[in-house]
Amino acid sequence: MKIAFIGFGNMANALINGIMSSDKTLVSDDIYIFHNKKKNQYTKEKCIFLNSGEACDQIFDAIFLCVKPKDIQSAINENKTLFTDNQVIVSVAAGITINSIKSFIQKNVSVIRAMPNLCAIFNESITGICAERSLSENKKKCVGDIFKSIGHLREIEEKEMHSFTALFGSGPAYIMYFVEALMQSERFSSISEDDKSLLILHLLSSTSKMLFISQDIKELREKVSSRGGTTEAAIKTLEENNFFEIVEKAIQEASKKSSNISK
Ligand SMILES: NC(=O)c1ccc[n+]([C@@H]2O[C@H](COP(=O)([O-])OP(=O)(O)OC[C@H]3O[C@@H](n4cnc5c(N)ncnc54)[C@H](OP(=O)(O)O)[C@@H]3O)[C@@H](O)[C@H]2O)c1
Repeated sequence: MKIAFIGFGNMANALINGIMSSDKTLVSDDIYIFHNKKKNQYTKEKCIFLNSGEACDQIFDAIFLCVKPKDIQSAINENKTLFTDNQVIVSVAAGITINSIKSFIQKNVSVIRAMPNLCAIFNESITGICAERSLSENKKKCVGDIFKSIGHLREIEEKEMHSFTALFGSGPAYIMYFVEALMQSERFSSISEDDKSLLILHLLSSTSKMLFISQDIKELREKVSSRGGTTEAAIKTLEENNFFEIVEKAIQEASKKSSNISK
């Protein structure tokens, strides 16, 4: 499978590293990368770097669009000669619909949209993909294996992209925000602030290990919140202040924002 990337930022880097470290993807040829920086600024094993818009005589099976949503149309226009009929176009640009991408490219291509998250950098992304119905199962699998090389993959419908972005795309930031809140609470004279932060990260990691093996999270949480005890007092305060409703509203706002961006 011969592939090219347009854009070489965080997401392209994560995907290329994932491809390089996986033996499951069918990418065996050199990867072509069309970027926006000065010539020869980058080097990477098995990668050929060209400036965006630079002439290239290769024909690609798949092209990954890894630029910001605002740059997608200009990046496509600059590299028009790379697009050919029957190609698979993979876009990670948030909010840009399959129909918009097809209308920018104006070739008989099949488009897959993907929504990875920040954790792609550590091969732990949670990625949602949706493909045009016309795309063959075989081509879908080839692209799916590339995203599996950077974490967990689920196929979703395009209309679910906003919800997926709101929950899993922005999800790491919600967890970070909760951790920030814990880090701001309480002070100890015997534990430094740095050490307290480290302990809170251990708390996150060990609790998440426990959650993975638990059958029922609510039941486990109720079990550790003994009646009349300290944990119950804290949870009661969160309940009284509508913690669930606040989280739900926040995620709905993120989904609404994603939907507005796509208009
Ligand atoms: N990062 C995430 O966690 C995440 C999660 C989900 C989806 N995404 C999506 O992934 C896409 C890329 O995000 P990112 O975080 O990788 O952004 P990024 O680090 O800013 O990378 C985008 C790259 O595209 C380059 N670029 C801009 N115009 C170009 C052009 N015409 N031709 C070639 N290259 C061009 C930029 O170069 P210059 O800066 O030099 O212009 C930049 O290096 C976005 O659409 C975003 O919505 C990102």
